[in-house]
Amino acid sequence: MAKTIIVSNRLPVKIQKVNNELVYQPSEGGLATGLGSIYKEGDNVWIGWPGLYVDNKSTKEKINDELKKNNMRPVFLTEEEIRDYYEGFSNETLWPTFHYFNNYAIHEQSLWEAYVTVNQKFCKEIIRIAEPGDTIWIHDYQLLILPQLVRYKLPESSIGFFLHIPFPSYEVFRLLPWRKELLNGLLGADLIGFHTYDDMRHFLSSVNRIVSLSHTNGQVEVENRRVLVDAFPMGIDYEKYHETAGSAETIKKEVRYRTSIGETKLIVSIDRLDYSKGIPNRLLAFEEFFKKYPNWKGKVSLLMVLVPSRDKVERYKELKEEIDELVGRINGQFGRLNWTPVHYFYRSFPLNSLSAFYRMADVGLVTPMRDGMNLVAKEYIASKLDKTGVLVLSEMAGASKELLDSILINPNDVDQMVEALNTALTMPKAEQKRRIETMQSSLRKYNIHHWVKVFMDRLHYIKERQMLLSTQLLDAEITEEISERYASAKRRLIFADYDGTLSPYTDDPTAAGPDKELLQVLKTLSQDEKNKIIIISSRDRNTLKCWLGHLNIDMVAEHGVWLKEAGEDFQLIDKVENRWKYEIRPILEDYVGRTPGSFLEEKDYSLVWHYRRVETGLGELRMRELTSHMKYLAPNMNLQVLDGECIVEVKSLEVNKGKAAGRWLEKYGDADFIMSFGDDWTDEDTFRVMPEHALTIKVGSAPSIAEYRTHSYKEVRKLLRTLSQTNRLVNNHHKE
Ligand code: UDP
Ligand code: G6P
Repeated sequence: MAKTIIVSNRLPVKIQKVNNELVYQPSEGGLATGLGSIYKEGDNVWIGWPGLYVDNKSTKEKINDELKKNNMRPVFLTEEEIRDYYEGFSNETLWPTFHYFNNYAIHEQSLWEAYVTVNQKFCKEIIRIAEPGDTIWIHDYQLLILPQLVRYKLPESSIGFFLHIPFPSYEVFRLLPWRKELLNGLLGADLIGFHTYDDMRHFLSSVNRIVSLSHTNGQVEVENRRVLVDAFPMGIDYEKYHETAGSAETIKKEVRYRTSIGETKLIVSIDRLDYSKGIPNRLLAFEEFFKKYPNWKGKVSLLMVLVPSRDKVERYKELKEEIDELVGRINGQFGRLNWTPVHYFYRSFPLNSLSAFYRMADVGLVTPMRDGMNLVAKEYIASKLDKTGVLVLSEMAGASKELLDSILINPNDVDQMVEALNTALTMPKAEQKRRIETMQSSLRKYNIHHWVKVFMDRLHYIKERQMLLSTQLLDAEITEEISERYASAKRRLIFADYDGTLSPYTDDPTAAGPDKELLQVLKTLSQDEKNKIIIISSRDRNTLKCWLGHLNIDMVAEHGVWLKEAGEDFQLIDKVENRWKYEIRPILEDYVGRTPGSFLEEKDYSLVWHYRRVETGLGELRMRELTSHMKYLAPNMNLQVLDGECIVEVKSLEVNKGKAAGRWLEKYGDADFIMSFGDDWTDEDTFRVMPEHALTIKVGSAPSIAEYRTHSYKEVRKLLRTLSQTNRLVNNHHKE
């Protein structure tokens, strides 16, 4: 049976050596707790690091056997790898950068090399157990280049990737010296998921600017493979948290804790000890709270659980000291014999204890400076069986996009946090209930099972799309078939668009003239008297004449306004109305004035606004503005608005490429070989008028009614070259 292979740096269990004994404990952190409850279905396997250094073979084997019982496969790391890949590149380079603490980030080539080596190690383990039909689901920032490594080894495999932390804006991401390698690594996946729409658009913007790949509706074309990028806000195992909150064990613990703490109100915060979690600011706000609202002294305590995390990394050690000091200061300043302001625990707790804390807390205080999602916020809400309690949540956490009925705060604004605490502690019960109910019903629906299902559905979707596109690809077999049909034909019509089909797009459209190779292939083809070559372009007639006029080919200029047979002059297709230009030209000139780098091109029967050299992003913004402006005016003026490759073209509705192509089809009705190439949607008009037996070939991946598809102009040229040679071979054969 096909299985899902989950791959993450950390397994859902971590192993520690206590008194020379191996102790297995659940891992902390959103990734492990989130997926931990669902991965065991079917034959699924989880590959990851067990969290400790093991130096001898027999212990490794022991761990191997033990983990196997729970569908886990360990990847063991050497001490150097733990230092350079895990603590180093993952947690001192990527983690701070992705959380906007880029001044904490270190950039060292040796750490990057260790990162590559360990990603390769993970790749080997995947290859060892992957079978055809399996789905490989890679997680988080420690394994960003793994999708590409797996893709090289298993080109056909289904690879999903999910990032559990934020993806920073381009301005921050670009600081990384290995930014290109990281993006290319990720793009080895078929589906790349983020918690929020913001993360997704930051990623797409970096892809656009750093590796020059644009996207359409989140789909990026990577070396002939379509990659889907989407947002999937991660949910929790709602029922598990809800049920645990009602279990006898949890309630027993609550009673015990309550007896020790007394009847004070309780604010709870639970995090790994991490600078992204905004812990010092939270403590400062708590201190200010007692200064501003002294009447709360003795009546409310903060229960703060900080789970030890990455404590070998310098920044984490420093933070621990800072927090110890702050807690000491607050307790020393306000504490009484019968009341402790901050109950501080530097350790992890089992689920029942956490659940009891959630139950007891009047306020859940979650104040990260940055957080991919933050599951603690969701777990707090799910555990509120009596529906009382208030969540104070940082707007920098992904969860804030969903939990809109919490009190949202900016963690840099200490005064705002002070006010939020007071509001939360004085909120009427009915209001608390309303808010908790709304958030619970959303968390119940968008739970972890839903999250996995939606992710997997999208992965299947993109795999199917890829297959659909690849079946239409012009491969060697189809090329041979076309060559045979070509060779045996008596009269041939070959229609081809120019830009993007026969020639690449360039920054300066006037510099896209035909090169030697193209001229040669057109010349050879057009010398065969059985052939009629027709270039159907949106270019103006003078440019076409200047570039191709010396060849024995026919031409269509300006989308079908002007037609020309070889050796003759351009003729107007019909009388075309042109007065609309007086009204439209000033509007387009206005856009040129507002958009540096753009310019206006005037053709006989159309006006074109070009934005290829406009700053990335600004050009697209103006293009959308202009097209919607024009689409509003166009119907009344009998005009058509075309948004092509970095252009917006306005032209009369009366002409199109299909109408022009029709003239040749009428005249050469006996043609037994008809072929048509085009890359943008204006070429669809040409494809549409082609007779049934014609070969229609789309260049690029956009949707098309064409029968076949190629990736670029290079393959079009290659095919034309093959045909021109087929021709020669056949002629030579006849001569013999
Ligand atoms: N957690 C835990 N034991 C503890 C404290 C916390 O297992 O003693 C869990 C907590 O329940 C939550 C996860 O650790 O599921 C933390 O995830 P979150 O998304 O809030 O933050 P992350 O640690 O992933 O940055
Ligand atoms: C976050 C990360 C996880 C990581 C976890 C615990 O949740 O997104 O990838 O596993 O923190 O961190 P650790 O370094 O202990 O694995």
